[in-house]
Amino acid sequence: MSAAPVNASLGGHPTYLLDRAALPGSERLAVAREGGAYRALEKALRGMKPAEVTEVVKASGLRGRGGAGFPTGLKWTFMPPPGDPRPRYFLLNADESEPGTFKDRVLLERDPHLVIEGLALASYAIGARTCYVYMRGEFRRPKRIFEAAIAEAREAGFLGKNLLGRGFDLEVVVHRGAGAYIAGEETGAMESIEGKPARPRPKPPFPAGFGLWGCPTTINNVETVANVPAIVERGSEWYRRIGTDKSPGNFLCGVSGRVNRPGVFELPLGTRVRAILEGPAGGVRGTLKAFYPGGSSTGILPAAHADVAMDHEALRAVGAMLGTGGITVLDDTACVVRASAVLARFYEHETCGQCSQCRLGCEWMRRLLDRIEGGAGRREDLDLLLDLGANMSGGKTICAFADGAAIPLVSAVRHFREEFEAHVREGRCPFPEDPGA
Ligand SMILES: Cc1cc2nc3c(=O)[nH]c(=O)nc-3n(C[C@H](O)[C@H](O)[C@H](O)COP(=O)(O)O)c2cc1C
Repeated sequence: MSAAPVNASLGGHPTYLLDRAALPGSERLAVAREGGAYRALEKALRGMKPAEVTEVVKASGLRGRGGAGFPTGLKWTFMPPPGDPRPRYFLLNADESEPGTFKDRVLLERDPHLVIEGLALASYAIGARTCYVYMRGEFRRPKRIFEAAIAEAREAGFLGKNLLGRGFDLEVVVHRGAGAYIAGEETGAMESIEGKPARPRPKPPFPAGFGLWGCPTTINNVETVANVPAIVERGSEWYRRIGTDKSPGNFLCGVSGRVNRPGVFELPLGTRVRAILEGPAGGVRGTLKAFYPGGSSTGILPAAHADVAMDHEALRAVGAMLGTGGITVLDDTACVVRASAVLARFYEHETCGQCSQCRLGCEWMRRLLDRIEGGAGRREDLDLLLDLGANMSGGKTICAFADGAAIPLVSAVRHFREEFEAHVREGRCPFPEDPGA
């Protein structure tokens, strides 16, 4: 990933997430400081009460970049009022395991001080003195770089005791996961940090009331907090001028698959998929057939939807989601049934198995898709697949994993039914073998 291009833009829009990321030595404090790091933290600690930081983030309309798009400032207000005697925690979600998603990694490796400044502002706003960072098990390099940046920040007085002499203490603890997708779910991450298997907890109670060790906890994604310094420094009105009315700001768009220039690009929310593929991503290799707009759990869309805007509302209107903003591109040599079967294998492997709809649903989904792709599918298997998808969806389970596993499958059948039928009719996969499979 390190050699992939970052920060190619469409031009003409303000940037604030990857400005420092392309500089040599951007992970070092001295370089980051040159580029303005910790100015927002200084501004907040010297002149803003915690509630004022929350207020400006709320007014900015920032929405979480971890997948669900929940309003960040509003989430922060769910923490109990200051009189609550329990310690309170900020949890930074750096698990980044959604297939097709690799943007948090770029921030952690290329501008760790932006992330540290963001988590410090979030911790200050919610009154946390300890921040846990839950980091994907495979992120050995990001962890090394991030921990070196934490040490530098502590040395310089941006972390530790009495930050900038303003009486605010903050310790950061990095906890590496062991490579489970489900551990990125917020309460799964909490269980894991507590030393247990990462099985999501039933909600309510929600983390703000009962989070880590039963104490008030706010959890946000890496990219979410990376937005906060710019908001605090330049204000909510400035922020709201970027992106769309209901989805303000820039987002990090990771593009992978059949494009000439895969990479991570900082773009305003609301940018059209076609403009991204033809612009920063350097064009589709071959003919565009389909794309997953925001990670595999957001579903698959056919090329006819390439003019859709990358924002929560526009993608919802076409039955998909913005998710983590990572676009995976398929060209016309790709088999949608095979792609669905590959994903089904992933979800079957990663389900924690607590809920029967998810445990059994993922297994059956994989079996049916393998059968169809292998040429032994029956006509009635298609409706069986849709029925299975309906049983896994709609909030019947403890967490959203089952919904996320069903969406790519159901959308594939919905948009590419003819391709599934061709597999059944011909008793084989009509596409060339995938040399990489
Ligand atoms: C199965 C599953 C996996 C998830 N994995 C991640 C992840 O790797 N990183 C992340 O930030 N959020 C992940 N989430 C979303 C988190 O539960 C949570 O909503 C998010 O961290 C909140 O941050 P935000 O409000 O800043 O978006 C996952 C959710 C589910 C259901």
